[in-house]
Amino acid sequence: MKIIDSYIESPETHEAAVKDPRLLGGPFMDLKQRRVQDVTNLRERTLHERGHLIALSRAIEQLDGLLREKAVGFSLEPLYREVPQALRGYVELVYDLNNQPSFRLIEPLLYKSPYHNCWLQSMALSEISGDDRPFVLSTPRLEDEDALRLQIPFASQQLDSLFRMKREPSSESAVSDALGLAGQDQMRFRSLLTTERPQPYSAYDGDGARWRYFGHACILLETRGVSVLLDPVLSYTYENDISRYTYEDLPEVIDYVLITHNHQDHILFETLLQLRHRIRQIVVPRNGAGALQDPSLKLILQQCGFRNVLEISEMEEIPFEDGSITAVPFLGEHGDLNVLTKSAYLLRMGKHKLLFAADSCNISPELYRHVNRDVGDVDALFVGMECDGAPMSWIYGPLLTQRIERQKDHSRRLAGSNYERALAIVEQFHCKEVYVYAMGQEPWLNYVMSIKYTENSNPITHSNHLIETCRGRGITAERLFGEKEILLD
Ligand SMILES: [Fe+2]
Ligand SMILES: [Fe+2]
Repeated sequence: MKIIDSYIESPETHEAAVKDPRLLGGPFMDLKQRRVQDVTNLRERTLHERGHLIALSRAIEQLDGLLREKAVGFSLEPLYREVPQALRGYVELVYDLNNQPSFRLIEPLLYKSPYHNCWLQSMALSEISGDDRPFVLSTPRLEDEDALRLQIPFASQQLDSLFRMKREPSSESAVSDALGLAGQDQMRFRSLLTTERPQPYSAYDGDGARWRYFGHACILLETRGVSVLLDPVLSYTYENDISRYTYEDLPEVIDYVLITHNHQDHILFETLLQLRHRIRQIVVPRNGAGALQDPSLKLILQQCGFRNVLEISEMEEIPFEDGSITAVPFLGEHGDLNVLTKSAYLLRMGKHKLLFAADSCNISPELYRHVNRDVGDVDALFVGMECDGAPMSWIYGPLLTQRIERQKDHSRRLAGSNYERALAIVEQFHCKEVYVYAMGQEPWLNYVMSIKYTENSNPITHSNHLIETCRGRGITAERLFGEKEILLD
């Protein structure tokens, strides 16, 4: 609402700001000034249709205030009477062992309450023909002429029929009828279809394994028997200068999709919903503690129609034929907030061991000593080195009910490992190969991750330094960009 109000007040400021590279990813709408009326309508609709959610958000603010003022170490029981009405029955009040008060939300009940209305979900289908798309955390998708707007719950199985059409031929009218399309919408739908057969996918058929880098943190691993896809964020197929794997380069069935953590460049519903019908099992880090900053991915995915969500705890293992997936603790990168939904993954495929550390920040190297003792050495390490990181409030600010001082905010960053921290992981696991990834540099990610580095940015200088050091020691090392394929014997 803050961004909406600010745009309505001064659309010209927003139009100018989105052209300034220094303000990339800032709180500015990437919309022309002439959309003011549409944004005003959106504001009205939001206040009208989502008024009860805005009230819920106020209630959380009030509850925070109540706990600050009255939860001073005595029993919390009398305070239940003062919990704002909107939250009653949905919260438990708690202290930690140092008498710091807090509350936990009974999340599953909230999804079954009037606060959750899946009929407000919608999606827009249009032809994507290039990498430039407005940043999703600041720019709403307004009705426009090219896009086909479907007001349809994400859990709807009709979406599976729709997305199945990407690979299997189907009758236009059957799908269009099932989606309830008529008139103009039917025409738009028709314009998105083709009679051309997609390229057949050639699955890995060797005796070893193959991995392919799809950009950022998205990697597909295959053996003859099993396929694993990490953090799916995919580009579509269109004319471009940067060679890449796309939706067309995925197996018919993906045995395991692994999600490392709940940041928008690692879990993207646009991609996941299109793949849902092809995923056997989607693996997410366990949480369920009901903290506002740490919603349960399992519940979110289940509400979105995924029936095969598997939660995995730290150091827990999922075995499969001649291999396994182990969840490895992931520290930091969340501004010191208590967030449990994060996991690195160790994949064992035949004799090969690969560790995908995602944005895990090696703030306590002893952790990996303990992990190493349990799982042994690792052949290949994939490590994110976005070591500057945004201040905590850039992502979590809207959840804070009190202002945090600027200096404190800037000390608590969403940063991954720097040179020293990444090198310590390499040394601990005696890695023979090191790949820096998850750097947000592929342009097809711009709409979820607006960062542009220069040669002097820390993530670049630190990762260059790591690569040089590793190569100097005879370790294969590279910063991944665009696409990459490696065959393992
Ligand atoms: Fe992250
Ligand atoms: Fe990331």
